[in-house]
Amino acid sequence: MSNVVAALDIGSSKVCIIIAEMKNKQFNVLGVGTSECKGVKKGIIVDIDSTVEAINSALKQAEHMSNKKIKSVFVNIPGGYTNLYKTKGVIAVSRDDKEITKEDVNRVLEAAKVVAIPQDKEIIDIIPEQYIVDGYDEIRDPIGMVGVRLEVDANLIVASCTTVQNIIRSIQKAGLACDGIILEPLATSSVVLSDDEKELGVALIDVGAETTDISVFRKGSLIFTKVIPVGGNHITNDISIICKITSTDAEKIKRQYGVATSNLIRNNDIIKINSIGGKSEKEVYLKDIAEIMEARISEMLYLVRKELEDRNLYNSISAGVVITGGGLFNIKGIQDVAQSSFELPVRFGYPNYIGVANPIYSASAGTAFYALKEKRTSTVELSHSVPKKEEDSHFEDYVEDDSSSKRNILDKIKDFFADFF
Ligand SMILES: Nc1ncnc2c1ncn2[C@@H]1O[C@H](COP(=O)(O)OP(=O)(O)OP(=O)(O)O)[C@@H](O)[C@H]1O
Ligand SMILES: [Mg+2]
Repeated sequence: MSNVVAALDIGSSKVCIIIAEMKNKQFNVLGVGTSECKGVKKGIIVDIDSTVEAINSALKQAEHMSNKKIKSVFVNIPGGYTNLYKTKGVIAVSRDDKEITKEDVNRVLEAAKVVAIPQDKEIIDIIPEQYIVDGYDEIRDPIGMVGVRLEVDANLIVASCTTVQNIIRSIQKAGLACDGIILEPLATSSVVLSDDEKELGVALIDVGAETTDISVFRKGSLIFTKVIPVGGNHITNDISIICKITSTDAEKIKRQYGVATSNLIRNNDIIKINSIGGKSEKEVYLKDIAEIMEARISEMLYLVRKELEDRNLYNSISAGVVITGGGLFNIKGIQDVAQSSFELPVRFGYPNYIGVANPIYSASAGTAFYALKEKRTSTVELSHSVPKKEEDSHFEDYVEDDSSSKRNILDKIKDFFADFF
């Protein structure tokens, strides 16, 4: 049986749409579309019209590549712009034979959501940390167990209403419906981290263009998420300002000659670049580029480590640090520099699937993977080709979803989270 979803990642440098399917437990990427976006600053939408334009352009590419027509998308929300609140729910098990059902689990999660949150915030998700059945704790899945009293310790994910509404508005203005909002660290971790790492304790660092998302997982659950406003574009800007060259040239130099430590440049090699205005040529020493990059990269790594230490999380990440996102991607020597900065094992993670095997796709591919893993069905429909017999029933699902897409978007999101667990 096949199941198709479309996932949207609205990043500071690009909007990305991925169409993917889960077929015979295998995750396949069918289409990828990316478009540069000027409407997002530090991970937050600041200009809806340019964001919509970028969504439409990415959409066209992904639809063309996959030969599918998209009606709706799952979208992620950056972890740092949400708050995690510890919460607790308690219920009495409903069945006479005291077997715990999915309904009981939904009820206990609903009970855990009954907390006072600020007026300008809304609950977007709840992540169970552990269930407790008649006093026995550390239970991951209580369904099928027998007990009288079911409790849950959970993290409530709360986001600013404005952030959520701007995401939804942009999707709607692009002519799409929103299937659901997925917390970015949960999405990214689903394609980048192993279960063992999440269990042991790991810091997932997504270094993007303008933001670095720090998330910590322990005992299989997300326990911390924060965004700091630095990313790969800061490296580019430093090169551009100090060398007095355009940011386009600075970006090219960073990608082609970039190193994380000046120790790697042992000669006086020079590159020639057009100066701003393009009237003359400038000579730039690679050693200077290396020093600029080294300074910014070590500051970024220091800020991440300090955040982990200040939150008393540094000692609980036995599996070390996993870095993803494009910001520190492919920079020569980065692995060693990061490892000595954190004094912990460091690896670089990316979605290991054909078509998206690059850390710039971690959040978008993760959103699609997470939605499919949680067995969501979206409203993608085959556009040009006639569906094969096997796909007919799946096609009907989309038609059903299409009628529901006319409902109020908040109702749809509410439903999405209601049947989440
Ligand atoms: N090959 C490369 N070498 C060095 N840096 C790169 C490379 N490819 C991309 N980058 C940098 O990665 C950054 C973009 O990363 P990414 O696509 O993960 O960001 P984003 O998701 O758009 O932004 P954010 O997560 O901050 O909202 C840019 O700063 C870009 O310069
Ligand atoms: Mg990103």
